[in-house]
Amino acid sequence: MTTKKTVQLKKIRDEIWHLGNSPLYKYRTQNKYFPVIGEGNHNAKIIFIGEAPGESEAKAGRPFCGAAGKILDELIESIGLKRGDVYITNVVKDRPPNNRDPTLSEIALYSPFLERQIEIIQPEVIATLGRFSTKFILQKFEMPEKDQSITILHGKALDAIATYGPIKIVPIYHPAVALYNANSRKVLEEDFKVLGKLG
Ligand code: URA
Repeated sequence: MTTKKTVQLKKIRDEIWHLGNSPLYKYRTQNKYFPVIGEGNHNAKIIFIGEAPGESEAKAGRPFCGAAGKILDELIESIGLKRGDVYITNVVKDRPPNNRDPTLSEIALYSPFLERQIEIIQPEVIATLGRFSTKFILQKFEMPEKDQSITILHGKALDAIATYGPIKIVPIYHPAVALYNANSRKVLEEDFKVLGKLG
């Protein structure tokens, strides 16, 4: 069944698909990459927001389907959920060359799509993965913590007010940190337990 949400999300997909004014558009088309819009449950209680697609994601057109995605899947399962229960997306929807950090102007260009995705899905919990999405979401919701570092905020459930009601924002380290540092896997698991209690 095609729901209103599906139609609205498809419109976002179509707009990003044709986003010729993006500085990342040429890189996408030259490399035969796909934009990575987001995927999951359109009625999800939890939305996970990463930074930008990596190479695996741009090749597949799916968020978090590479090495960091495998860790994310395991963490989601560690709290008794499946990937299909949640919605997963990024702030920037096209791969930046060589996985460089997204620029402020790229974040400004792509973030309105993320804001629309949040309005459509209306999640009760926004889990931000890494410092870029954490900063963007804390600024968007005018949080008093917006200038604090993720090293202080990770694993905290912050109260915020969305247009559709009260929500929790939970900053979490980017799952890729566990690829380089075994100790951070434990920290991620503890932070996911906070999500498990909310979800
Ligand atoms: N890292 C991200 O931030 N997002 C992805 O989709 C994959 C890796």
